[in-house]
Amino acid sequence: MDTPIPDYLVEVLDAVAADASGAVADYIPELAQVDPDQLGVVLATVDGAVYEAGDCAAGFTIQSISKPFVYALALQQRGLEAVLDQVDVEPSGEAFNELSLEKGSGRPLNPMINAGAIVVHTMVGDAQDPQGRCEQVLAGLSAFAGRPLAVDEAAYASESETAFRNYAIANMLRSRDSIVEDPEDVVAAYTRQCSVRVTTRDLALMAATLANGGVHPLSEERVVEEWVARQVMSVMATCGMYDSAGDWISTVGFPAKSGVSGGIIGALPGQLGIAAFSPRLDPHGSSVRGVEVCRRLSADMGLHMM
Ligand code: DON
Repeated sequence: MDTPIPDYLVEVLDAVAADASGAVADYIPELAQVDPDQLGVVLATVDGAVYEAGDCAAGFTIQSISKPFVYALALQQRGLEAVLDQVDVEPSGEAFNELSLEKGSGRPLNPMINAGAIVVHTMVGDAQDPQGRCEQVLAGLSAFAGRPLAVDEAAYASESETAFRNYAIANMLRSRDSIVEDPEDVVAAYTRQCSVRVTTRDLALMAATLANGGVHPLSEERVVEEWVARQVMSVMATCGMYDSAGDWISTVGFPAKSGVSGGIIGALPGQLGIAAFSPRLDPHGSSVRGVEVCRRLSADMGLHMM
């Protein structure tokens, strides 16, 4: 890599642009409507430089990329031990929407799969005040982004109509007392969390906040403590890419998280946050071109941490 970063990012997008493989998520009807050709990438350094190329201002729902950040909020509020008591940190090797409970204890295996994320959602804020919890989650995600975010109500309504697997997962969690509230209400609140609208730039700054030990590089607000950011990035490294986590960490080599709307983030501790967006997904539920962009950035810029 010997061109200036913005030109280099355009080159990376050009190199992957022709790949039309994969398919947009259609189990959430609203996601099936998006323009599948969108493609963007943003790098945000911990000292506040932001480099962008492509469709980086286009809005989309955050989906599973909310999970590491809400895990961070729960850790910050409850402490490590209390959160570990409810949700383990072991890779499941299974798809994001499998139940994947630990044998014996019955804890969800990690907070990046839906089962773990649904439990973690209920650990933010006050159990007696689900409305207040949704507001705290939105405020927390906004602090990570450094600007006020909002729920995409159409996406929320759309996913709510077809969230059959999440209702099933939440009912199983309720039967084991992993959640104690009404499973339908919990899925509704978790679905609102997934329906928060972001841009690729927002995601890069959210990732950069983790990489910067919990302090937003531009607002300079401390969103979470350093140990929280370290815990979150560790779990992203081992579990963020679900059943391709091993392939990801060995080939790309940095903590990451993907979402079914086509976003993907990477966080390099002490260096930078990366975000890419392109809606067509691979069989693991991760953006085909987003993964390829990250592979190229890792190889060209020497970002593999090992
Ligand atoms: O719970 C769901 O199924 C969606 N709201 C989020 C899933 C997701 O983004 C999985 N990641 N690739």
